Amino acid sequence: MWEYVRHSFLLPYVSMDLGNWLAPLLVFLVTMTLLRKLFAMMESLQEDLQKERAAKAALEEREHIARELHDGIAQSLFLLSVRVDRVEQTHKGILTEALRETYQSLRKTVYEVNEYVRQAIAGLRYPVNPASMPWMESIYNLVEEFRHDTGISVHVSWSLTESRLTMKEKVELYSTIREAMINVYKHAQASTIWIEGRDAGQEGWRCEVKDDGQGFLPDINQESTGGFGLMMIRERAVTLQWSFEIRQESQHTLVIIGKEGKQ
Ligand SMILES: Nc1ncnc2c1ncn2[C@@H]1O[C@H](COP(=O)(O)OP(=O)(O)OP(=O)(O)O)[C@@H](O)[C@H]1O
Ligand SMILES: [Mg+2]
Repeated sequence: MWEYVRHSFLLPYVSMDLGNWLAPLLVFLVTMTLLRKLFAMMESLQEDLQKERAAKAALEEREHIARELHDGIAQSLFLLSVRVDRVEQTHKGILTEALRETYQSLRKTVYEVNEYVRQAIAGLRYPVNPASMPWMESIYNLVEEFRHDTGISVHVSWSLTESRLTMKEKVELYSTIREAMINVYKHAQASTIWIEGRDAGQEGWRCEVKDDGQGFLPDINQESTGGFGLMMIRERAVTLQWSFEIRQESQHTLVIIGKEGKQ
């Protein structure tokens, strides 16, 4: 451009010598102003890319650890609890009070460790940046796994706005739904489960796990059934100020949890 302008229009005003001096000066000025900015932009892009890569690697590592925990520890713990149950069943007739208590505390410990591991897995699977993996995906994964393991058909109808749940609530609601589903498998002899989640009020929500099984005896709500599942759900509900209810309604068992929003 400079050369063109100089030769076509500036020859009468700018001498050859001066023009030759001005050319490198102009190049220098352009470099200092435009190119420096361009290089700075490239550098920051490079930096962002590097950061993104590191974050992705960290996420992959977390997913890897989560899978390892799930496939290794969680499965073994499940087997362990089944075995403890079986041993207890076999010795049912000859159990002394002390032994019964031992079994009870053993079962409780296994249950708690199981719960910790599950929470750790859930925690690992929630990425540092919550936007990058929707929580619902883990619920659908859970349902899929359950369907596959048990053969019970599960219908999910979900319209709960995810932003109404805090991170902690998401983890806890996940555990609650899982426990309710495992209970159906263990106790209800049901063929179908319906899981429903929806908004309630201005900021509240409601989640329901329903099955078509045999139902339960009325003493279930007195905390002496020997299980920890419902107890944990109750404790969780108290801590997070959720409502919790398990009841029967026209041949169906319903587990309902929810949170009141502002009206
Ligand atoms: N969906 C259901 N249908 C029928 N009975 C149920 C259902 N959910 C729970 N129950 C009854 O409630 C009892 C208590 O459940 P809870 O989850 O507290 O204990 P658990 O499942 O027996 O043991 P754990 O959860 O500690 O492994 C169960 O023993 C079962 O009789
Ligand atoms: Mg249970």
